[in-house]
Amino acid sequence: MNRIEIMEGDITRCKTDAIVNAAHTSLLGGGGVDGAIHRAAGPSLLEECRTLNGCATGDAKITRGYQLPARHVIHTVGPVWRDGAHGEHAALASCYRRCFDLAVQHGLRSIAFPAISAGAYRFPLDAACRIAVEETAHFLARHPHFERVILVAFNAEALAAFQSALQQISHPPPP
Ligand code: AR6
Repeated sequence: MNRIEIMEGDITRCKTDAIVNAAHTSLLGGGGVDGAIHRAAGPSLLEECRTLNGCATGDAKITRGYQLPARHVIHTVGPVWRDGAHGEHAALASCYRRCFDLAVQHGLRSIAFPAISAGAYRFPLDAACRIAVEETAHFLARHPHFERVILVAFNAEALAAFQSALQQISHPPPP
């Protein structure tokens, strides 16, 4: 568990091997964290994204980080929340798994995530943060040499949601 770090701030400042972008299926930019990452990385990121032919919901693709302190950006597309009965939880879990798959395939050792889908895509924050923490813990348990996963909250509410999810899996309530 000490390889999971939760911080409040701007993911574009993270010096991890990769930062994760909560992207649109087109991979051609947008608002929220996507806009912030493209602004900080510079126009070369969009040029590379144009060559990728988009990305399906629940999948991920990797690019270079250009002017970011992170060497890579892993772009993933979270589900748009409808009512929770349209595969949203499984699709969000798949985003984290595919990002970790790519990190391993590229020999990366550290990665930072935003709360995927919890902004414009309206996934309920607590549930989104719980999935992030569960998938991270599951991955780290199987990859003892992976150094660090940072879960980046953009505000105090997201920080509290990540912390409470981590607390719950570290100290589950008695049955
Ligand atoms: N650093 C860390 N977290 C951030 C940052 C930042 N700089 N900026 C926003 N967040 P969102 P989504 C948080 O809307 O819900 C885009 O237009 C934010 O507070 O960025 O997956 C894409 O192109 C929230 O907790 O992503 C897609 O069309 C979390 O990041 C669509 O929005 C995710 O919010 C994706 O929607």
